[in-house]
Amino acid sequence: MCGIFGFTGWKDAAPILLKGLSRLEYRGYDSAGICMISKNRDLYINKAIGKVMELKNKINLSSLSEYTTGIGHTRWATHGGVTENNCHPHTSANGRFAVVHNGIIENYSELRTMLQWQGYQFYGETDTEVAAKLFEHLFMGDDFETLKKLTTVIEWAYALVFLDKENPGKLFGAKIGSPLVIGIGRDSWYVSSDYRSLIGLVDEYITLEDGDLFCIENNDYKVVNCGVELVRDKESITETEKHMELGDFPHFMLKEIYEQGEVLRNVFAGRIDFQAKTIRNNTLDEVVTQGFERVHIIASGTSYHAGLLGKQYLEHLADIPTEVTVSTEFKYGKQFIDKKTLYIFVSQSGETADSLESMKIVNERGGYTFGIVNVPGSSIARLAKAGLFTHAWVEVGVASTKAFTAQVATFLVIALAFGRKWNLEHMKFLSIIEDMQKIPVRIEKLLETSDKIREVAEKYASYLNFFYLGRSYELPIAMEGSLKLKELTYRHSEAYSSGELKHGSLALIDEYFPSIIINGSSPLHSKNCSSVQEVKSRGGKMIGIITSDDTKKDIYDDYLTFEASLPETEVFLEVIILQLFAYHMANTLGRDIDKPRNLAKSVTVE
Ligand code: F6R
Repeated sequence: MCGIFGFTGWKDAAPILLKGLSRLEYRGYDSAGICMISKNRDLYINKAIGKVMELKNKINLSSLSEYTTGIGHTRWATHGGVTENNCHPHTSANGRFAVVHNGIIENYSELRTMLQWQGYQFYGETDTEVAAKLFEHLFMGDDFETLKKLTTVIEWAYALVFLDKENPGKLFGAKIGSPLVIGIGRDSWYVSSDYRSLIGLVDEYITLEDGDLFCIENNDYKVVNCGVELVRDKESITETEKHMELGDFPHFMLKEIYEQGEVLRNVFAGRIDFQAKTIRNNTLDEVVTQGFERVHIIASGTSYHAGLLGKQYLEHLADIPTEVTVSTEFKYGKQFIDKKTLYIFVSQSGETADSLESMKIVNERGGYTFGIVNVPGSSIARLAKAGLFTHAWVEVGVASTKAFTAQVATFLVIALAFGRKWNLEHMKFLSIIEDMQKIPVRIEKLLETSDKIREVAEKYASYLNFFYLGRSYELPIAMEGSLKLKELTYRHSEAYSSGELKHGSLALIDEYFPSIIINGSSPLHSKNCSSVQEVKSRGGKMIGIITSDDTKKDIYDDYLTFEASLPETEVFLEVIILQLFAYHMANTLGRDIDKPRNLAKSVTVE
């Protein structure tokens, strides 16, 4: 987490830094700050608690036209509270060097003690301030040589970008574990945690690899790894600013919910030939012929829920036993890595530290790693042996929506590819393919019912606790709906298999504890109806997420409907209802929808 952005060139740095930081704000928004040097070697620092907008409000741009090199940071606090002193950029004691940092310097406490013995005084509590003071301590006259020394002393993870007051126009830094790219413009250079912050600013960028050190000066740059200067391949930016802008929507989350029909068309394009009713994809052809007997899916949060749906698809459609593990638990659990298992890592950002570290373990031990990733060029995408992109474009809202449906759709395609090769009955294969083609239109029709969803969300907005219930394909949907409610409304909710409720948690039910059951055309529909009755007879309120032709609508206090299809594809509609339910409730409660409290979108610390 935390976003870092740097610029050097012939333009005013301040507006560029602020624009870059606004685009990186999804990585953390506890505080923000910038530091710039003028051609006359004046240093300008400004910091603010809260979002980038607070910082913008403190800056008088008209007085800063001499400043053409700078670094900026938007913070998600790890070490040290949310105070202005802890806000980046941090400076050396002599005020010559400034640094921004994303990651955690694991040995910062020992280093801080060592520096204190040497007489350094600290104004804050962060690990980054230690890096700034240590840089000064190690400095022997050459920035890049000092950087080399520094990276042998600090323990990662980090992406660090420094500036030196005595060298206007120069930016230098290093990265291990946390992402960093260099954007290459016309006589202007950018450094950022995420290439998407560079959309519209440059057409090309390079992605730094772990262990890379870089230096930008004299309108040129170099990258050094293990003492060797090397050339990293340039990549092109294909997205346009349209993908970064709200348009007519009040929130990115709503915009992204509405993009889901188009996103699914993207996911299927180049993979499914709807005319021929078949799958055409080289990556899948290759993976399917590897003879895997099992699948192990590893992911966190919303991506973990997509993985749970992946398990349902792979087991039901392809008969492949599938395990799903939360990445944090995978990394610190007992791992059994073998050649007969396909290890699938699911990640929107491709930078989630827990997933990335787990992937490295599997790679090191010879397992076959496959990524389902949204961000091209991200660490997980680069480290996976093979993979599929989810093509959901930039997701700005912290609560994941379109990335989830794209991940689930990708799993459906993968399961069909395996199923067609092995056991899936041809008629079933064809019926699912035909049905998949209709999903985007069904989604667009469902979105027209958003007002009805809002009415129900408003009605329940004063309740503090919720159960989300479902079974089989619909249990991961219940889990995802519950997570959306928690992160957006700060209401408590728990997801359960509807059958499991009676084994203890039913005790919580009373008139103040409503439940939401996801009960489409599943074979377990009537079992779910029994669970509804169990809750209702204890005085609990029940909201049904059901098909429009459900004949048992009267058992629910309220219901929201979608067009019936197959259980494998209804999940897309069900989750969109739950996304909108959480969105409207959060809006009713006046929550900060795109940036819920305490969170960040890209979790790059363990
Ligand atoms: C919730 C959400 C998170 C992420 C999780 C993993 O809306 O977005 O739970 O799903 O932090 O992130 P990625 O998918 O980037 O690995």
